[in-house]
Formats: sequence, structure tokens, C-alpha cells
Amino acid sequence: MSTLPTSPTAPRQHVTVLLDEAVDALLTDADGTYVDGTFGRGGHARLLLSRLSPRGRLIAIDRDVQAVEAAASGATRVSDPRFSIHHTSFAHLREVLASQGVAQIDGLLLDLGVSSPQIDSPERGFSFRFDGPLDMRMDTTRGESAADFLARADERHISEVIRDYGEERFALQIAKALVARREGGNPVRTTGELAKLVAGAVRTREAGQDPATRTCQALRIFVNAELEELEQGLSASVGLLKPSARLVVISFHSLEDRIVKTFIARESKSEVDRRAPFAPEQAHRLRAIARIKPSEAEVRANPRSRSAVMRVAERTDAPDVAPNVASNVATKHAAAGRGAPARATRRRA
Ligand SMILES: C[S@@+](CC[C@H](N)C(=O)[O-])C[C@H]1O[C@@H](n2cnc3c(N)ncnc32)[C@H](O)[C@@H]1O
Repeated sequence: MSTLPTSPTAPRQHVTVLLDEAVDALLTDADGTYVDGTFGRGGHARLLLSRLSPRGRLIAIDRDVQAVEAAASGATRVSDPRFSIHHTSFAHLREVLASQGVAQIDGLLLDLGVSSPQIDSPERGFSFRFDGPLDMRMDTTRGESAADFLARADERHISEVIRDYGEERFALQIAKALVARREGGNPVRTTGELAKLVAGAVRTREAGQDPATRTCQALRIFVNAELEELEQGLSASVGLLKPSARLVVISFHSLEDRIVKTFIARESKSEVDRRAPFAPEQAHRLRAIARIKPSEAEVRANPRSRSAVMRVAERTDAPDVAPNVASNVATKHAAAGRGAPARATRRRA
């Protein structure tokens, strides 16, 4: 029997991280067209709208139905003719823009991860602080919940997910305990059950961190194919940014930040095609501009901002030819025949 609360004592509003810093970095032309690929509760979007001219435009995206509903109706509605919201992943940026008749944009913002309303809703199953069904999907209209994954996957697959996406040393022990419990006819179905099982399998404790933190992060990243979606969103963005347009990405853990950093570095180098070494070099399409962390005052006021890293890059005027370098996450997992990219591909098909 779980002793965890089934609801937060006071539901938190989402406190936007790096609010002014992100909007300052993104906005280069008040008449421009911008995309907020992670609307959440619209903290960045609302400030950006307040700084756009009547000719400016903001196209917002979120894969969470509740975020889209918050933008489209009720007291939180964004009632502004310059604004539209789309329920999909930012990996589909190109399709969203095509549906709006937009060929190029002046900036893209991605504020990755989950919002406080997602974490604080026990029925979404993101947090082991409250007991609820182990779901963890940002888009509850499709895909497989974390509980369904744990109910069908083999020990090796579960262990790889927890190791690769949670950087958890005890991944194998946790996977063994999960499978043993399932084979005993009692699969883990709730966040409370998962937290208890992980606490029993993890032999050491990290100061200030619940033993289930890494496993929950891993399952969330896997269920939402977060790293693959990020790579696809970044790849799609460069060809859609006008010269001098900005790409602004806020990450909350090292796996995400590594992808953003590697992507910007790769796009910031001139490329020589090894198959045609005498062909002209491909000019680089991005220029890295900044890496910004929240101030001490922001971290004090909003501890969730502690792990945030914001990277800013600017589109050069180089023609739109992608560098001939394979993406790291997708390639690594496809080569190993693992589940995440295959799932992500299946889901989008
Ligand atoms: C940290 S919150 C964004 C908060 C927002 N900037 C604000 O100020 O309110 C992240 C949001 O991005 C959404 N999200 C995460 N990955 C996504 C993806 N691949 N495509 C679209 N939305 C995504 C989540 O559903 C969540 O609502």
C-alpha cells in the first residue's frame, strides 16, 4: 500500500525559466515570424507577443493537449490575432509552417522538458512524489505509457533504457526487480510502486536526490522519444531560419544539452565532403552566440531552474545544404537495434 499523496498540496503554476534572457536572445525583428516549439503555459510566448509589432507573428507548438487547451480556451487563452497554437511535436516544424503558409522564420525557441502542471498532476504519472498511474506521456493521445512499456519489454531493453537515459549505475538491478515483480503477476502500474521498487534495488544514495529520480528521467525520455524528437526538431529548423534568425534552446539535463551543443558545433563548422574532397567547402549555416545559465537570484527563486542551460545560435547567410554528418543519438540506437528510435519512427508513421 502506497503512502504517497495522490495530489499536490497546492498545484504550482509553471514558472518560466530564463524568461527575459530567452526572449531577448530570440527577438531580432519585431515585425518577424517566430516559433515557440514548447508553449507549456506560454510564459515565453506571452512576453514575446508583447514585444512584437502588429505585423509580427507567433506560431506555437506543444505536444500536450492540456497545454494547447490552455492556450486556446478559458482564462489562460491567448487571444491575439498574431498567435496560433498547434498540437504536435516540434519535430514536425516543417509541416506546421507549411500549413500556415510560412516558408521561413526569424527565430525558434525550444524550452525543453516538462512543465509544472504536467509534473504536479498525479494522473499524468510524471512524478514519484505523488501516487498515480505510471503514464509519463506528454502527448496522451498516442504512444505507449511507461507502465505499458514495463509490462512488455525484456530485461535487457529495460536495463538499457534506464542506463542510457538515466545514467543509472543500478540499471540492471532495477530491471531485474521490475521483471521479477511482473513475472510474479504484479507488474508495476503506479509511480508509488515504481519509487518503492527502485529504492529497494538501488544500493547507494545520492545526497539530496530520491533514488527513483534517474529511473523516472530515463522512462520519461524513452516514452516520449525526447532525444530523437530534439534531433529532428533541430535538423528541421536550420533550413527554416532566415539569415540572422536565432535558434534558442533551453535544456534541463546533460543528454539534451549535449545534443544541442553538438548540433550547433557541427553546423558552425565549414564542411569538406570526404567523397568529393575537391568540391567547394560547404559554408557553415549557424554561428554559436551564447551559453547562458540562470542567475543565482533566479535559482534561489525557482530551484527548478538550477539545471537549465540556454544555448543561442544565429543562422548565417550560407545556402541551405545540411552537413553530411549522421546524427549521434539516432545512429547509436539504430546501430544497437534498440527500441527508442524504432518506436519514435513507428509512432510518427
Ligand atoms: C518547460 S515547458 C515549456 C514552458 C514554457 N516555455 C512556458 O514558459 O510556459 C515544456 C513544454 O514543452 C512541451 N514539449 C516537450 N517536448 C516537446 C516536443 N517534442 N514537441 C512539442 N512540445 C514539446 C511539453 O509538453 C511542455 O508543455
